[in-house]
Amino acid sequence: MPALTLCDGVFEVGSAHDDRHLFDSLMPTTFGTTYNAYVVVGKTATALIDTVDPEKTGVLMRNLAESGTTRVDYVVCLHTEQDHSGSIRAVLERWPDAVLVAAAKVAEFMETHVHIPKARFRIVAEGDVLDLGDRTLRFFPVPFAHWPDNTMAWLEEERILFSNDLFGSHYSTGRIFATVGHDQIQAAKDYYSEIFMPFVTHVRKYLAKSRALSPAMVAPSHGPVWWKPETIFDLYEDWLSDKVKPVVVIPFVTMHGSTAVLVERLASRLAERGVSAVCRDIASEPANLMLETGHMVSDLVDAAALVIASPSVLGDAHPAAVFAAFLASAMKPKVRFFGLIGSFGWGTRIAETMASHTVGLKAERLEPFLVKGLPTDEDLKRLDAYAANLADKVLAASREGAAG
Ligand code: FEO
Repeated sequence: MPALTLCDGVFEVGSAHDDRHLFDSLMPTTFGTTYNAYVVVGKTATALIDTVDPEKTGVLMRNLAESGTTRVDYVVCLHTEQDHSGSIRAVLERWPDAVLVAAAKVAEFMETHVHIPKARFRIVAEGDVLDLGDRTLRFFPVPFAHWPDNTMAWLEEERILFSNDLFGSHYSTGRIFATVGHDQIQAAKDYYSEIFMPFVTHVRKYLAKSRALSPAMVAPSHGPVWWKPETIFDLYEDWLSDKVKPVVVIPFVTMHGSTAVLVERLASRLAERGVSAVCRDIASEPANLMLETGHMVSDLVDAAALVIASPSVLGDAHPAAVFAAFLASAMKPKVRFFGLIGSFGWGTRIAETMASHTVGLKAERLEPFLVKGLPTDEDLKRLDAYAANLADKVLAASREGAAG
């Protein structure tokens, strides 16, 4: 990705990482990612906002040169994680007199995570400004979006909000501005699900704060720049709301096909009632359980219910289902209902163990639906009743949401 221009004297000089398929060894990045770094050229000083993952330091340095950046007076650090701080040392080697600027929490974390002494930073707090001559950067810490140290920078004259991870997406593109195609919306939703869904209360406040600024552009640290910020603001409003859609997410794993019979029957009966079932075979990529399970997390952003379907293995659920349960619980989705279905061989404690794996879910719990061996016609009729009850609940919840 070459250096790109946001407006006169404001450049994106970061790097694309097209072939990165997993982030944090956890999150599938179907569309790759970018590490965005921005140069703001003022009359008296130039600031570099964030750097890039250490693997891409060469691209950053090349883009700085290509953008005509011959001086860096300030390196603004909005967040400690190494995908943004990983090239600071290289920048300081090139411009040793550059002043590091960061919120107190970033400086504290930089000492422990990147081994740059806290004393090396000029500390900025809420509302403080950095004067670049004819341009002004104002700082807003946004703790727990998604670390305690995240910070936003606001370029007052051009009304550009450098939002750091907030409003970001793992989407690699050679273009600077969002085209708002389906893939870009999906990438933003995926990113929201794994980074911000556990921090809804905080992020609601930051969304309101960002809207109040009425930015001309939102420039995050990953993915394209939102040149029409209402697009991403409205999406966040929807994802952060209490509204749910008439969707049931069914991550499943099957060993000999019996649990799959239950999943197929449940999905078709839900569909007959107007409820969508998103079924994901979470063990379909055995070399990497993160892939389908990561997609499940994104499915949960606005779904009304989660039903995990699993056979029993040594009394507990299949390990793939345990992983899905752990992740769903940790991500705190707004699902209203949680169910467990599955087939077991000769004995099971799956109802008890899965309850303990999902303590983070604040959903109403349906009675577990478990059958011994291959489901019989009688079992499937009982499952039809389970599906009808679940569909009624889901439809009622999604109507409530629509009214609210
Ligand atoms: Fe993109 Fe929290 O680092």
